[in-house]
Amino acid sequence: MTKNISHVQPADALVQNTRPRRFRVATLATVFSLFALYVAWHEVHGPAARHNDELPITQARADDASQPADAAATPTAVASSDLVKRGEYLARVGDCAACHTADKARPFAGGLPINTPVGTIVTPNITPDPDTGIGQWSDADFLRAMHEGVGKSGERLYPAFPYVEYTKVTDQDVLAIRAYLNTLTPIHYAPPSNTLKFPFNLRWLMVFWNLFNFDEGRFVPDPKQSAELNRGAYLVQGLAHCEECHTPRNFMQGLKMSSRFSGAVQAGWHAYNITPDKNSGVGNWSDDELAAYLSTGAAPGRANAAGPMAEVVTDSTQYLTREDVGSIVTYLHSVPPINGGESRPRDQWGNPAVDDVTALRGTTINAVNGAQLFIANCATCHNWTGQGVGASEPGAYPSLIHNSAVGASDANNLAMVILHGVSRTTKQADVLMPAFGTQLTDDQVAAITNYVTKQFGNPQSTVTVDQVAKLRAQQ
Ligand code: HEC
Ligand code: HEC
Ligand code: HEC
Repeated sequence: MTKNISHVQPADALVQNTRPRRFRVATLATVFSLFALYVAWHEVHGPAARHNDELPITQARADDASQPADAAATPTAVASSDLVKRGEYLARVGDCAACHTADKARPFAGGLPINTPVGTIVTPNITPDPDTGIGQWSDADFLRAMHEGVGKSGERLYPAFPYVEYTKVTDQDVLAIRAYLNTLTPIHYAPPSNTLKFPFNLRWLMVFWNLFNFDEGRFVPDPKQSAELNRGAYLVQGLAHCEECHTPRNFMQGLKMSSRFSGAVQAGWHAYNITPDKNSGVGNWSDDELAAYLSTGAAPGRANAAGPMAEVVTDSTQYLTREDVGSIVTYLHSVPPINGGESRPRDQWGNPAVDDVTALRGTTINAVNGAQLFIANCATCHNWTGQGVGASEPGAYPSLIHNSAVGASDANNLAMVILHGVSRTTKQADVLMPAFGTQLTDDQVAAITNYVTKQFGNPQSTVTVDQVAKLRAQQ
């Protein structure tokens, strides 16, 4: 399996593809001309200087948010087995396995290729193997990697490792994760090296990237807000790194903080707007629906988690305690709503098909008739009316009416679901929709997609054969 970080624009913007190259040149020019400026700046505000600015009170408050909101008393001495258990839980919240476990037979031994527009970064081995893993790292080395994005020999790490978010995590939590990683079976495995193009293979260039896109420092709770909301903010902005996918990026691929959580397209998938905006975000979802989505991957009548979000649910959010899920929901409902211009919530589109399906039977079979292809490939599970089978039972075949992928203003995720299927494993169910990528041609996938959005979803959302070909190439 390969992860992709590239900029496929939402379907309607797919055509304009000359932007990345122009931006790359602009980036380099900016970067080099600002070198002198940086050196001067670094003298005054370098990491050492910044560390001194960090007030002890800030750390103490962050430690508060690092505790579940309802934890009444914190035992002063935590038994080491408790520490390891806590570390395991936090490693799940941080979803380290999503990137560092490429092969289930080699947990945490790395080797997952992450495709970027400038080449491939392969994740390192973080098992305690002394030669190929992090067995020889001190706790200080580990803290520095998580908080500053700096490796053991002082080399800059690439932000494909989400240190931009992990910097917010308290020392205490980082060290609990370290304690857990120390208990793993050391695996002797050296992942293949990165293949990044010049000049991006020069790690020190990340100094400039950090300058514009990285704010080192622990989470600072807002004393005006409840412990629950602060806990949610601590998790979402920090370990759970929801923004890696849900916040749009600037031309340097840094997070665009002015439009936090307003949605972004990554590797073909649209990680939707999750701000509380009523039409563009999840403002009309109840707390229980959001919690159910994060814990099980399904919020019947609104959304199902496929693609990268299915992985997040499978590896991470399903393991969160009720309290932590509740805190995340409280926080998400509190962020500033961002209106993306949608006229209706994406989960409020569509009606059941009413045309009699038998009417289609007498007609000549046309290889690219969306309705016929839908009946042939999808109706056994989703019903010809689009209403699904099994209602809201766990593992049901969901209704395509009032489904966020079908009602979204771009058809990316719908086409991706048809191409790559759905696979999600939770305590409640093993959810599987087969991938149709090998059986259906690009024009057939486009025809089904356009039929499904027109019949069951947002009729303005369409996809071309070309766009399907680009989405197919993503995985
Ligand atoms: C989104 C993918 C992703 C996630 C999630 C992730 N990492 Fe990584 N991590 C990477 C990549 C990529 C690198 C290598 C960066 C580089 O080569 O500069 C890396 C590097 C590291 C390193 C430095 C190792 C070395 O040999 O230099 C450590 C330590 C680390 N990660 C720990 C963690 C921990 C702990 C978690 C979970 C809390 C985690 N990572 C989650 C992608 C990820
Ligand atoms: C690796 C990328 C990634 C990460 C990390 C991620 N998401 Fe998602 N998220 C997605 C994608 C892609 C979708 C759309 C899934 C689909 O259409 O089936 C999505 C969908 C959602 C939805 C449903 C929106 C809708 O209308 O369908 C919610 C809510 C959500 N994510 C919340 C979160 C939260 C909270 C976090 C952090 C705990 C998070 N996500 C982390 C990629 C991600
Ligand atoms: C073998 C049964 C089966 C078939 C055939 C099938 N699906 Fe699915 N479909 C599923 C299951 C299971 C899910 C995931 C349910 C969940 O997430 O809880 C799903 C999910 C979906 C979703 C929601 C994805 C999201 O991100 O919200 C869409 C849209 C969809 N299918 C469309 C289709 C289309 C179009 C076809 C025909 C090309 C099709 N399905 C064929 C079983 C099937």
